[in-house]
Amino acid sequence: MHIIDKIISNFKNNNTLYIGEKITISQHMIQTAMNAEKTKSSKNLICSCLLHDYGHFIVEDPNVLVRKKLDGKHEDIGYEYLKKFFKKEVVEPIKYHVLAKRYLARNKKYFNFLSDASKTSLKLQGGLLNKKESKDFEKKNYFQNAIKLRKFDEAAKKTGIEVKSIDKYRNLLISKLL
Ligand SMILES: [Fe+2]
Repeated sequence: MHIIDKIISNFKNNNTLYIGEKITISQHMIQTAMNAEKTKSSKNLICSCLLHDYGHFIVEDPNVLVRKKLDGKHEDIGYEYLKKFFKKEVVEPIKYHVLAKRYLARNKKYFNFLSDASKTSLKLQGGLLNKKESKDFEKKNYFQNAIKLRKFDEAAKKTGIEVKSIDKYRNLLISKLL
C-alpha cells in the first residue's frame, strides 16, 4: 500500500483515546493541524502538526504505557518512521515536540495548564529541562516550529468540535513527500 493510503487508513481506523482525554489520537492530531491552519502557519508546520503523534500508531497503546509508568518514546519512533517518507522541515519539529514540552513546562503557568496525564508523562519523559539543556535546545534548527507545534498540540484536546476528515489533508501529505 502506498504510504499516504496507509497513513490515511491508520487515521481512520484509530479508536484509541488520547491519554487522559475524551478524543481519539486521530482527532487530536487533526485538531492540532486545524489550530496551525487558523493562525496561517506554513504548510510544513501544518503537516508536522497533523503527524506529530504518529508514533502512537506504531508503539503500544499510550494509555497502557502511562499506566505502567513507561515512556514509549513516541516522538522518536514517529520521527524515525516518517523521515523515510517526508521532508526534514516536516519531521524535525515532530522529533522535538516532547523536548518542547519539557522546555515550556519550566514556566509555572504552562505547567499548571497541562492535564494530569500530561504531567505524569512529563515525569516519564525526563521532567523539566535545565538551563544548559534549554540553551542547547534554543540553538537547534526548527526550535521555533517545535514550540509552535507544542502549543497547538496542548490546545487540541477539545471535545464537541467538528474535526475535518483526514481525506482533506491528502494533497498536503502528498506535497510534503521526499
Ligand atoms: Fe499531541
